[in-house]
Amino acid sequence: MSKLWQKTTNVNQLVENFTVGRDRVLDREMAAFDVLGSLAHTTMLESIGLMSAEDLSLVQQELKAIYADIQNNNFTIEDGVEDVHSQVEMLLTQRIGDAGKKIHSGRSRNDQVLVDLKLFFRHKLKEVVEAVEKLFRELIELSEQHKDVLLPGYTHLQVAMPSSFGLWFGAYAESLADDLEMVLAAWKITNKNPLGSAAGYGSSFPLNRTLTTELLGFESLNYNVVYAQMGRGKTERIIAQALSSVAATMAKMAMDQCLYLSQNFAFVSYPENLTTGSSIMPHKKNPDVWEIMRGKCNRLQALPNDVAMMTTNLPSGYHRELQLLKELLFPAFADLLDCLNMATFMLQNISVNKNILDDPKYAYLFSVEEVNRAVLNGTPFRDAYKQVGLAIEQGDFNPDKNISHTHEGSIGNLQNAQISAAMDKVLESFGFEKVEAAIGKLVR
Ligand code: ARG
Repeated sequence: MSKLWQKTTNVNQLVENFTVGRDRVLDREMAAFDVLGSLAHTTMLESIGLMSAEDLSLVQQELKAIYADIQNNNFTIEDGVEDVHSQVEMLLTQRIGDAGKKIHSGRSRNDQVLVDLKLFFRHKLKEVVEAVEKLFRELIELSEQHKDVLLPGYTHLQVAMPSSFGLWFGAYAESLADDLEMVLAAWKITNKNPLGSAAGYGSSFPLNRTLTTELLGFESLNYNVVYAQMGRGKTERIIAQALSSVAATMAKMAMDQCLYLSQNFAFVSYPENLTTGSSIMPHKKNPDVWEIMRGKCNRLQALPNDVAMMTTNLPSGYHRELQLLKELLFPAFADLLDCLNMATFMLQNISVNKNILDDPKYAYLFSVEEVNRAVLNGTPFRDAYKQVGLAIEQGDFNPDKNISHTHEGSIGNLQNAQISAAMDKVLESFGFEKVEAAIGKLVR
C-alpha cells in the first residue's frame, strides 16, 4: 500500500519491515488521541480560513465516528498502512474525499505524534494517579486498623526497636504521597501543547496554537517550535523518573512482604488461594505475586536509564528512533498499573500476626525502652545504657512490654491525618477536571 509520502518508487519491503517494526501495534494504543489531535487541529484550520465550514463539519463528523469505532474496538491499522496517522487520514479520505485530504495543512507527523503521545501519557498518568490513590487509601485504612499491633523493627536486619503494623503500612502510604510529587512534575511537563510545531520548525500558515492548547485542555504550550520537538525524549525521561519513583516504593514493599511471609518471620499471611504451590514440596504457599511485583518494579527502575541511553546524544530535530520510546514507555505504564492494582487487591486480603512479640527473641526490642525509663527516673543515659547492657549479658533482662508513646515521632502517633492531607493536596494539583471537560467538549 502506498505511503503518505510516497511519490513514484516503492520502498523496499525489508526496509519497511525494519523501520515499522512493532510501532504499528503500539500506535493502535494512541489511536483515540490521534483523532483528538485532528479534531483540535481542524477546528483551528477552519478558524484561520484554511478549511471551509462545510469541510470542517464533514471532517469532524467522520473523525467522531472513527473515535467511536476506536472506543468500541472497531479500528485496526490495516496491513501496509505505515502508522496510525496514515490510517486515520486514509479512512477520512476514503469516506469523505477531498475534505479528508485537507486536514494535514500546517502539520507534520512529527508534531502529530508529539501531541498524540502527550495526550496518551496524560491519560496514563491519570490512571497511575488513580491507582496510587486507591493503594494509598487501603494502606492508611490498614494502618489505622492495626495501629496498636506491635511489629519488630530491624536495623541491619537485626532485631532493633518496637515498631507497629500501623507505622509499617503508613510508611508506604506516605512514600506514595511523595512519589506523586514526582508524578505531578511529570504531569506538568507533559501537559503542554506541542501541536503547531509541525516538522519541528513551525509553519508559514498563521496557526493559532493557543486555540489548540485550549481545545485539548493543555495547561500551556511548548512555545519554541524547536523545543517542542526536543520535548520528545525529554517528556519520556521525566515520566520514566516518576514511574521509577513509584516502582521503587512498590519494590521495597514487595520485598517486605516476601520477608514477612517467610516462616522465619511469619508476620503476615494471605488466604491460600492467593499463594502458589510447588510441584514437589506439598507444603508450599509461595508469595509469587509479591515476587513478580518485586521483579517488575525493580525492572521499572531501569526505565530512566533506558530512555537516557536511547536519547542522550541526539541533536535537536526529529530522528526516527524516537519512535522506539513507545516500546519503553507503553509496557512500563501497563506493568506499573498492573502492580498497583494487584498490590491493592492483595492488601485487601492480608492478615497480620497479632502475637509476634510473644516469642522471647523479641525481648531485646525493648532495651531502649528500659534505658529511657531509667533516664526518666533520674539515671544519666550512659549509666542506664550500661545497666541494661549488663542485664542483657547476664541473661537477666525482663523488659516491660507496655509502651504508649503518643508524642510526635513515636510509634503511637502515626500522623495519618497529616499524611492524608499531604496526599489530598498533591491530588488536587493535577487539575484533571479541566482536562476531562476539554476532551468531553471536543468529542461531543
Ligand atoms: N512512527 C513515527 C514516530 O513515532 C511517526 C512520525 C514519523 N515521522 C517521520 N518524519 N518519519 O516517530
